[in-house]
Amino acid sequence: MHIFLLFALLVAPVTAVPGCHGDRDKDHRRQENCTAAGFTGIPAELEPATKVLLFPRNLFSSLSWSSFQIFTEIYEIDLTGNKVPELTPSSAPILPSLSVLRLGSNRLTSLPDGSFSACPALTELYLEGNAVVSLSDNTFSGLSKLEVRPSASKGGCMLKDVEGSLLGS
Ligand SMILES: *[C@@H]1O[C@H](CO)[C@@H](O)[C@H](O)[C@H]1NC(C)=O
Repeated sequence: MHIFLLFALLVAPVTAVPGCHGDRDKDHRRQENCTAAGFTGIPAELEPATKVLLFPRNLFSSLSWSSFQIFTEIYEIDLTGNKVPELTPSSAPILPSLSVLRLGSNRLTSLPDGSFSACPALTELYLEGNAVVSLSDNTFSGLSKLEVRPSASKGGCMLKDVEGSLLGS
């Protein structure tokens, strides 16, 4: 009986948020995968030590930087395929540890000055599949670590492609 109980505890999921499952990313970071679960915002019960939050194909209609603040070691946020129409510039680095932000296939139409000032440590930014018609000289200001990679890299188009398609159209 005791052995069974111990086993049951060991295999129990880390969190029990319906629609999400906790696991690890390829570099062993603690991850919550809430793919296509109908969320409009972050469920309250997620473990604050989570570093990778995956919400592709959900129903987020805004990106509130501060709503991710409880995840103090946040490394990656995936909001691919949501309904985010705009980004709010921030005067402070709200998410200083955020390195990867995926916002492809949302409803972004413009990216004003300092759109990403909340997360100055970004190294990867995905914006493909948005109808971005206006970009300013300072849209990406302060993002000194952003790596511009060829579009052939894993995951598809990156910053370079956004700029390229804007200039080309
Ligand atoms: C997240 O979960 C979905 C299924 O719910 C799966 O298809 C997808 O590959 C997972 N993503 C990652 C990065 O583990």
